[in-house]
Amino acid sequence: MPVDSAVAIPEMLLAWYDRSARRLPWRAPPGTPPTDPYRVWLSEVMLQQTTVAAVGRYFAEFTRRWPTVGALAAAADEDVMSAWAGLGYYARARNLIACARAVAAAGGRFPDTEAGLRALPGVGDYTAAAVAAIAFGRRAVVVDANVERVVARLFAIDTPLPGGKSRIREGADSITPDARAGDFAQAMMDLGATICTPKRPACAICPIREHCAGFALGDPERLPVKAAKAARPTRKGTAFWLESDGHVLLVRRPDKGMLGGMRALPSGPWTDEEPGLVGAPATSNWQEVGNVAHIFTHFALDLSVRSSTAHDRSAEGEWWPIDRINDAGLPTLFAKAAAVAQKARGKR
Ligand code: ADE
Repeated sequence: MPVDSAVAIPEMLLAWYDRSARRLPWRAPPGTPPTDPYRVWLSEVMLQQTTVAAVGRYFAEFTRRWPTVGALAAAADEDVMSAWAGLGYYARARNLIACARAVAAAGGRFPDTEAGLRALPGVGDYTAAAVAAIAFGRRAVVVDANVERVVARLFAIDTPLPGGKSRIREGADSITPDARAGDFAQAMMDLGATICTPKRPACAICPIREHCAGFALGDPERLPVKAAKAARPTRKGTAFWLESDGHVLLVRRPDKGMLGGMRALPSGPWTDEEPGLVGAPATSNWQEVGNVAHIFTHFALDLSVRSSTAHDRSAEGEWWPIDRINDAGLPTLFAKAAAVAQKARGKR
């Protein structure tokens, strides 16, 4: 890339960011000193695989309940897992707790370098770079899916992903400035989220269009090229709604595996074959009351919901008041299953 572009691109982008930055609760306004590293780290973990719109209320709730990393480190695991319910990718919540405790144990301050951050539990390349840049103003090459798309278009990189990632990283590196590293990273994210969108990018109003090879070639929407995805298999499972005297039986899922550590309805294995009543928490007269379809990253799940009433509360688990089911912190899959069971219950 010509040297003048390496200077002009960040300049133009930062000038655009000064005018157009999205105001977000975890963000310092353009050109101002960074905000609290705890808030930056928390927001970056929440924003992985999740939209800005979905994260807003979770960020507000977490920072209200746990305003510092020390407070989060001292929280009970189950309170944090319940507060995370609905955000998905629950390994992130377990890593969040582990990371908060590691930081608290080391005195309560986040490391201020990319390498130091990368050594924390659950902090990968992306998060380490983002926090180093945004919270500490360190030059770091921050590449998320938005940045990937902007860079693939800017340099017309058409090596299919994931193989093209290293070329994209080099491209991002070549335009990352030394100064205002955090603003630059967030400007790239905002450009990707608002102008350089996956479909129908708004090139007419793009601040760096004149430098964009993808635009010059006439079809930026084609980029980045993605490798064909493997078909997503469907698995089948059963969730059990067992109620007794205004309470429903809930269990905690094992730490390892899907929705690990989350509160849930009892559920058998999720397999290619219908598991029927395998994993039922009691021998009972189970009625099928409906189905829930749910998409995970690597498979779709077709969950049959079975309902029954127990004579007593001897089955093992947590008997939760049905009228407070919305406070149980059920992940979305089981919240949907609970809604199906309750709807059927209303009809009886
Ligand atoms: N996505 C991930 N991190 C972000 C940030 N800091 N600002 C906007 N979108 C983001």
